[in-house]
Amino acid sequence: MPADTFVTKLNEQIGNEFAAHQQYVAIAVHYDAETLPQLARFFYRQALEERDHALMMVQYLIDADADVVIPGVPAPQHSFGDIVAPVALALEQEKRVTGQINGLAAAAREASDYTSEQFMQWFIKEQVEEVATMSDLLRVVERSKDDPMEIENFMAREHQGDQGEDPTAPHTAGAA
Ligand SMILES: [Fe+2]
Ligand SMILES: [Fe+2]
Repeated sequence: MPADTFVTKLNEQIGNEFAAHQQYVAIAVHYDAETLPQLARFFYRQALEERDHALMMVQYLIDADADVVIPGVPAPQHSFGDIVAPVALALEQEKRVTGQINGLAAAAREASDYTSEQFMQWFIKEQVEEVATMSDLLRVVERSKDDPMEIENFMAREHQGDQGEDPTAPHTAGAA
């Protein structure tokens, strides 16, 4: 059994991941409405990744025979001042999640729950990538904020298919 303190925090984190999912869908919808389909596509895809993160955590708790309580989430921000604001918000969110993920690893270690600490390793690596991706994107949108088509071209070029299968990723609940 994983440590109780870890289980409590991981259940909270499931909520944070679903909240991140909702926020990215809201950002995608915003860009879609602005007719910026490449930016929209990128955030729809990011949203799916956040959902996967939540379901990986669900699967871990199920496998460990621990309680899973799917929490509600606060409403996401849905209106934005300019083309930069959603990306700035996304970067802020990824930095916050990095802190949460590190906190989970620390809680597991503190409770000598090394299995759970190891489970968090994939997420630590994932956060490094997500913060880097959003920092890069923020630089691009800041630089080209007066020329949205330049940003769209960049997204089409640099974020075409993105994310192939990651064989090291934990299993998501409900996946085949
Ligand atoms: Fe996530
Ligand atoms: Fe993320």
